[in-house]
Amino acid sequence: MTSPENPFIFGEIIEEPNFVDRASELSQLVRDLADGQKVLLLSPRRFGKSSLVTLALLKLKKRHVHTVNLTVSSYASYAQFLEKFAEKVLRAAGPWDRVKDWVTRFGRNVKPDINYNMTTGEVGLSLGKGPGFDPTPIAPEVFAMPGELTKNGGFRMAICLDEFQQISEFDSGSVENAIRNQVQEQREVGYVFAGSQPSLMKEMLSAKRPFHKAGPQMFLDKIPASDWKEFIARQFGKRGRKLEAHAMEALLTAADLIPYDVQAEGQA
Ligand SMILES: Nc1ncnc2c1ncn2[C@@H]1O[C@H](COP(=O)(O)OP(=O)(O)OP(=O)(O)O)[C@@H](O)[C@H]1O
Ligand SMILES: [Mg+2]
Repeated sequence: MTSPENPFIFGEIIEEPNFVDRASELSQLVRDLADGQKVLLLSPRRFGKSSLVTLALLKLKKRHVHTVNLTVSSYASYAQFLEKFAEKVLRAAGPWDRVKDWVTRFGRNVKPDINYNMTTGEVGLSLGKGPGFDPTPIAPEVFAMPGELTKNGGFRMAICLDEFQQISEFDSGSVENAIRNQVQEQREVGYVFAGSQPSLMKEMLSAKRPFHKAGPQMFLDKIPASDWKEFIARQFGKRGRKLEAHAMEALLTAADLIPYDVQAEGQA
């Protein structure tokens, strides 16, 4: 956490008042996701992908789009990732009354353990299989869930798969195929696939891979110095402090305008 005296926020997802620039990227992403596009968001580390996506999903939520945010690299195995994907999609599709009939139909093939907590109103889902379980055969059905739920429920959904380049770690390519095949059918569901390693992502988007031409590509650039200056002056001003021009220049140079570095240098 940052102390109240520290005008900078780094290493966390940024909130709107502290969000610098990116206005056109933000509105474009919101529009594309609301439209059901499959967006590929690329940049090197720390440029602000996760922050941008989080804000976009928040805006969509206000427009009653149901949202899901999943970081692929948080899961140790394909089975675990599928389980969380299914659970988060089901939760986002809720309330329970609305999805429970659908769930029994979905359950017929995938046979997940689904429990509903009456007190919290939360749905829990487990694929209920041991560590040696190969989820490949049920993957298409799991990835089809958002499409089925939105069609049946009459709502739209926006899903982010962050650190998407990690998906290729799960197996030798069938995951990419399974996702691509399912998502392209889902007109009510917008996806953003955010990747931190441009070289890996570029390879994933190359001609022979399933994600080739899957949707619009968005590249995040560094935030221009002029936008940072205004923000930094404002942050200092809020606390009755002023930053000398040369200190401002030094800060921006040191940070090379990468969002994380500017925020971190700023508080040093
Ligand atoms: N638009 C922004 N305005 C101000 N600060 C930002 C902005 N975007 C990102 N930051 C700062 O940069 C840090 C890193 O941003 P974020 O985690 O969103 O980047 P990322 O591209 O997802 O990084 P990674 O590739 O490591 O996941 C944030 O914690 C925040 O301090
Ligand atoms: Mg990130």
